Amino acid sequence: MKIVAPKGTRDILPPEINKWHYIESIIREVMNLYSFYEIRTPIFEYTELFQRGIGDTTDIVNKEMYTFLDKKGRSITLRPENTASVVRAYIEHKMYGLGGVGKFYYIGPMFRYERPQAGRQRQFHQYGMEIIGTKDPKADVEIIKATEEIYKRLGFTDYKILINSVGCPKCRPYYEEELKLYLKDKYDQLCDDCKVRYHKNPLRILDCKREGCRRATESAPKIIDYLCEECKIHFEKVLSYLDALNIKYEINHRLVRGLDYYTKTAFEVIAGGLGAQDAVGGGGRYDGLAQEIGGKEIPGVGFAGGMERLILALSHAGIEFPREDIQDLFVVFREEVEKEAFALIFRLREKGVKADYALGKKSIKAQLKEADKKGVKYVVIIGEEEVEKKILTLKNMETGEGKKITEKELYKLFEKE
Ligand code: HAM
Repeated sequence: MKIVAPKGTRDILPPEINKWHYIESIIREVMNLYSFYEIRTPIFEYTELFQRGIGDTTDIVNKEMYTFLDKKGRSITLRPENTASVVRAYIEHKMYGLGGVGKFYYIGPMFRYERPQAGRQRQFHQYGMEIIGTKDPKADVEIIKATEEIYKRLGFTDYKILINSVGCPKCRPYYEEELKLYLKDKYDQLCDDCKVRYHKNPLRILDCKREGCRRATESAPKIIDYLCEECKIHFEKVLSYLDALNIKYEINHRLVRGLDYYTKTAFEVIAGGLGAQDAVGGGGRYDGLAQEIGGKEIPGVGFAGGMERLILALSHAGIEFPREDIQDLFVVFREEVEKEAFALIFRLREKGVKADYALGKKSIKAQLKEADKKGVKYVVIIGEEEVEKKILTLKNMETGEGKKITEKELYKLFEKE
């Protein structure tokens, strides 16, 4: 039987990889500009990190983790997200001791055992950013602004920022009681998952996409009416800074996010044209996460975007990506002079000319055809005569024009180009 890539995974092939490089370069550019530093944490962690960090009533922890025992019987999980790992690393390396606030970003694969569909995979990629060590609401807004800046540089405008506050362990329980009270006589309308959530994590019912659950929660009380003073002031400040920076947003009372570590600010970015999986990114504040995983009380806020979904959204918006695989020059040669041609190719490369050639025994005609297929602008043709007279035949593939040229002149031409 032929072996194929596992369900829910995808090979990223050239030329599609160009899009990834391009987007990644813009993410790095913006992150650098905003003084975020790259952090690379392991692809797998002890399972407990996610159980305690993300929360064991969430779908991610309950249903979607790739968990296995290693040879010593330790429970290991492929990371379903990276925030818990970044906070773990921050605590483990006592980065709070370095003074100031840590600003980190990452780009890499994450793993969730979900039902694959358009924009949803089992191995997918996120780019993300975290500001750890401050409660300042300006940090929340800096994260949102950085997200917008990345979109702006990509030319992406077809998105909406949804924002809410999910309160904190002081005020959320009051709201949860109110919500349960409100839903008590609508309990039978809820789906089976939400019946469980009613007892374990009622906030998540607001987020359920099922028709019955949506109807049941239509006029539910709003969490922002139940926030404690601290959460209320925080939310107002976040909104006022967003206004000051002219960032457009929509307050969405249903927005609760699928991870349990959130406190105060929660936000999501949804894009047009993506169908059901329209969240291109999400984030929020997680002031209790460090303590949850065994550290001190260290507040934090962050965001992660889905690379695959962003690429889909950009393609849907008709955004063009610059091509990086175009050769400057293709060297076409007769077999008799292959050694001379081979040496020339490396001299050209040393001078920074992106020169390539056809591997394998091929006729001049076949080599020219290959050059044409690759979309190269110039071709250099070498035969015995050229080698003898130390001259090259240069052909412009766009105009069809040909001329004789010395090697020196060739370098000059590419210096200009
Ligand atoms: P999340 O909302 O679970 O948040 O994931 C962030 C983004 O990752 C989603 O909006 C989506 O674009 C993408 N994504 C998630 N699951 C899949 C999937 N199965 N296939 C394709 N794309 C997917 C987090 O992961 C948090 N760690 C974000 C965060 C950072 N909060 C604070 N800091």
